[in-house]
Amino acid sequence: MEYLTLNNGVQMPLVGFGTFMLGGETCTNAVASAIESGYRMIDTAEAYGNEKEVGEGIKVSGIDRKELFLVTKVNFKSYENAERTVLQSFKNLKTDYIDLLLLHWPFANYYSAWRSLEKLYADGKIRAIGVSNFEPDQLLDLIAYNKIVPTVNQIETNLYCQRSIERSWMDKKQVAHMAYAPLGQGNRNEMFGEPAVLALAKKYGKTPAQILLRFLTQKGIAVIPRSTQPQHIKENFDLFDFSLNDEEMEKLSGLDRREPLIGKPETPELVEFSLTW
Ligand SMILES: NC(=O)c1ccc[n+]([C@@H]2O[C@H](COP(=O)([O-])OP(=O)(O)OC[C@H]3O[C@@H](n4cnc5c(N)ncnc54)[C@H](OP(=O)(O)O)[C@@H]3O)[C@@H](O)[C@H]2O)c1
Repeated sequence: MEYLTLNNGVQMPLVGFGTFMLGGETCTNAVASAIESGYRMIDTAEAYGNEKEVGEGIKVSGIDRKELFLVTKVNFKSYENAERTVLQSFKNLKTDYIDLLLLHWPFANYYSAWRSLEKLYADGKIRAIGVSNFEPDQLLDLIAYNKIVPTVNQIETNLYCQRSIERSWMDKKQVAHMAYAPLGQGNRNEMFGEPAVLALAKKYGKTPAQILLRFLTQKGIAVIPRSTQPQHIKENFDLFDFSLNDEEMEKLSGLDRREPLIGKPETPELVEFSLTW
């Protein structure tokens, strides 16, 4: 595994496992299977309603908690009670600390929530704090008027939405880039059939998903693909025995459409709707 060093010195794996839309036993089994396949970073969220199942999957795997890098997020509806919500996440995940705690969306009173995270961090209950779905102006504003610079901004990033402008601001402020929907939410998406992706898959004896994920990790972007299929879970983690050359990286960079696929919900109501599954 390769790691990113966050701006507070904490080491974060470059590949993790996503759990959006996973519930019940499917979630527990997928998390246990991911850990068995070697994943050490797991991404969940209060809003996914599956922290308990994620905790159960960790328990089933039998892994030592200290080997894991757990990521969860506070939903914007809980920002007024962020500290209490985070402590509930600890219980759900059956842990007494979280590695990375994110504010899920820049809605509602995220300043208040950020200061609660700063306090939990100062108390040693969280190893790193960060944000998700923050546009550069929101990120810069948060940094300017608070004590702690977020370690991570988790934003939709994939072949068609590469986020070079956002990334340049994040680099300036030493905020690490974590990609959600790194596979564009699955192979119903045409990125799996892009001729350039297929040609590279053939050349390196890899799958299109592995090319798409390798492209991002080679740019220093952490990825958290989700899958319920053991074969996909394994292949999405098996990314570090080949490298794309500069010309190949450039070719894939040229396929950027600069548009989020999932869409950019403009209102809290639309975000809430997208979380109903
Ligand atoms: N911060 C936020 O607002 C936010 C928003 C969305 C997501 N996230 C996080 O980011 C994670 C990843 O994003 P995502 O779950 O939306 O989408 P994703 O990881 O881009 O795509 C998941 C889809 O890809 C398919 N897939 C996975 N591996 C594959 C492979 N090797 N070959 C073919 N198909 C494959 C999966 O189907 P199978 O199950 O059949 O493999 C699933 O349908 C989430 O799970 C969540 O943890 C965060």
